[in-house]
Amino acid sequence: LSPRLQGCNIYLIGMMGSGKSVVGDAIARRMGNYNFLDTDVILERATGMTIAQIFEEEGEDAFRDAEAQVLDAIHAHVRCVIGTGGGLVLRNQNWSKLQTGLVLYLKVDPEVIYDRIRGNTDRPLLRNDDPLGTIKRLIEERRGRYEQADVIVEVKADMDVRDAADACVRAL
Ligand code: S3P
Repeated sequence: LSPRLQGCNIYLIGMMGSGKSVVGDAIARRMGNYNFLDTDVILERATGMTIAQIFEEEGEDAFRDAEAQVLDAIHAHVRCVIGTGGGLVLRNQNWSKLQTGLVLYLKVDPEVIYDRIRGNTDRPLLRNDDPLGTIKRLIEERRGRYEQADVIVEVKADMDVRDAADACVRAL
């Protein structure tokens, strides 16, 4: 492992459906002494609500506030691989916290993301008539941030979780 990685957190950023949770978990296993955490999962456990319910009942701003609080609570941990909600990078304060660790962007083509999440109803931002168009728009809006990551790993359609995790560990 590179010296900068010894004990520092690894933050996975990227769009919903890019595989942050499954690939992050696999990376943590490969690293041996790292734990995997996921901001959405922690938020759901803490509130007893699903992400979709939080959006519906409290609105996106409240969700973003809560998501920032979760990051606050976990960024002081060490030796964690942390999957972040796709829009978490947008707030400057969140972005500065990610800088305390190593930021890895899982870059996946919009069509591949669309194929993966098609028919899935737990992503409130994609519950509309044009989910593929929305995915493309969100990637464009977030590109500036995503591509500022320390490491960018391109995950192609033919790569499974194992391939993606291997590519990430090699890139670290
Ligand atoms: C969001 C991504 C979701 C979740 C929420 C908003 C986004 O997380 O936080 O639906 O703005 O891209 P995943 O990226 O883990 O799906």
